[in-house]
Order: sequence, then C-alpha cells, then structure tokens
Amino acid sequence: MSSKKLNEQSYLLSSQYKSANNLKARIALHENYGTGKIDLHKWIFEHIDIKDDAVILELGTGSARVWVQNRDRIPQDWSITLSDFSKGMLAEAKKNLMDIKRNFSFKQIDIQDIPFNDNSFDMLMANHMLYHVPDIDKAIKEIRRVLKPKGKFYASTNGEGNMLEIRQMLAQVAKILPSELVADSFSSSFTLESAPAYLNKYFKTVKRFDLNAEIIVDKVEPIMAYLMSMTAVDKLEELMPITEQEKAIKQVIEFIEDKLTNGLIKIRTKTGLLVAF
Ligand SMILES: C[S@@+](CC[C@H](N)C(=O)[O-])C[C@H]1O[C@@H](n2cnc3c(N)ncnc32)[C@H](O)[C@@H]1O
Repeated sequence: MSSKKLNEQSYLLSSQYKSANNLKARIALHENYGTGKIDLHKWIFEHIDIKDDAVILELGTGSARVWVQNRDRIPQDWSITLSDFSKGMLAEAKKNLMDIKRNFSFKQIDIQDIPFNDNSFDMLMANHMLYHVPDIDKAIKEIRRVLKPKGKFYASTNGEGNMLEIRQMLAQVAKILPSELVADSFSSSFTLESAPAYLNKYFKTVKRFDLNAEIIVDKVEPIMAYLMSMTAVDKLEELMPITEQEKAIKQVIEFIEDKLTNGLIKIRTKTGLLVAF
C-alpha cells in the first residue's frame, strides 16, 4: 500500500490537522534546536509593506503564529480575517489570539473556494500551506480574484531539499511502520523554486526571499516527535497488533540513535517567502 500524500484532503482533516498537535511538534524542533537567530514568522512580517488601514485575509492560518509572534507590531487599524479549512486549527488560532486586542475575525475556508467578493482585500497571506492544496492553480486564481488590483499576496514555503535529512529518515520509518500511515512527501508541490511559475500566471511581479538555516539536535526525542508528527500513529492500532507496535517503535528509536553522529543530528532548512503583486 502506498504512503500518505500531504495534499490528500481527507488525511489532512481527519488526522494531520484535526488538532494543532502535529504542527506544534514540528514548530518545537525549529524553536528549540534552530541555530539561526531569525524567527520565520517575524522575518515574514518584516517583508510586509501595506497601508495602515488594510483589509487582510490569511489562509491556512494554523495556530495563528504569524500574529502571535508579531503581536506588538500589528497596526491598530488593520482588519484581519484568519481562516483555515480545519475547525480544530481555527479554534487553536482563536485561543492564541484571545489576549491580543486587534480587529481579528475567524472563518472556516478552503483556499480553493474563497467565499468573498472580487476585489475585497488589500493583502492576502498563505504561509506554508499551498503545498497541501490539491489544485494550486485554482487556489491562486481565487487569491487574485478576491485581492484588489493593487493588493499584495504573501506566501511562505520551503525550498527544494528542505530538511532532506528528515525526509530520508521518514523513508526509513515507512519501512518499519505500516507505510500507509507515513507521509511520503511534504512541501514538494509548491516550493520556492516552483512557486513563481504558478504565481506569474496571475501576477505581474513575483519576488522571492530566502532564509536558510540549520537545526542541530542532540537527543532522540525531538526527532522522534517530528517523525511521528508526519505519521498517523493514532491509526497504528488498526494495522498492527500491540506487541508488534512496541517492537516497531523501539526499532524507530534505535534507528534515530544510530543517526546521531558524535551525539548530534544536523538538519538543513531551506525556506523563504514569495511576494506577488
Ligand atoms: C503547515 S500548516 C501552516 C500554518 C501557518 N500558516 C503557519 O505558517 O504556521 C498548514 C495549514 O494549512 C491548513 N490547510 C491545508 N489545506 C488547506 C486548504 N485547502 N484550505 C485552507 N487551509 C488549509 C491546515 O489545516 C494547516 O493549518
């Protein structure tokens, strides 16, 4: 049986993004072991150049991290709609913004079908999410439609070869655990390299900004948490007897231990931002 694709809508909604837990495990690896001094969401915010009374829509907001990390620099008069197609994510976003007094509203939206009129927004943002979308062209057409003619679209995503070391480990995990539970690819469809071709179809100007860094981990646990966040372990019971489950998980841990060279695992990250207008 084949492994999970991260743009399979049913998998994303019923397992991967049902709640914020998987995303939290992945963010934790960057936050706790990233060697770069720059926070991705603060860095994204520094590129935003839009008027002080802008009307804004964010798609696939997740845990609303871009707003939480930049809480002190959100202009008072921005009117911001945060959206996600997962109810669980939207609930987490709402909770995380509870004490930030700005004009936030929340709506459940699939980026491929945005329920707003043409020319409604000065700015749209979709961070690290377009690679999940089955019909990327449809999503970008929708973005262009609801954006005002002079509006700007910001989209962060990963570059090719991002976290290659994790991908290689995930391929090994798929040999130990039932492969249909393991995500076989992430961020391969909408990368920093492939995104301009999608965006140029609807936008005259597309600018790319890169942010490369390194994560250095000195323990098995955070790597295990990351790999499991890409694996539907909640469904493991259905596919493996309990005795085999324990053995298999132990095997994954041993495999990670083997990867620690001089006590360390180094992971290279390639990420960045596209600005289209
Ligand atoms: C990797 S997370 C990124 C979250 C956030 N933008 C960030 O940068 O931290 C991807 C998010 O996109 C959402 N998502 C995936 N497919 C979607 C779609 N078709 N429409 C709207 N949201 C979607 C997921 O529920 C998840 O919250």
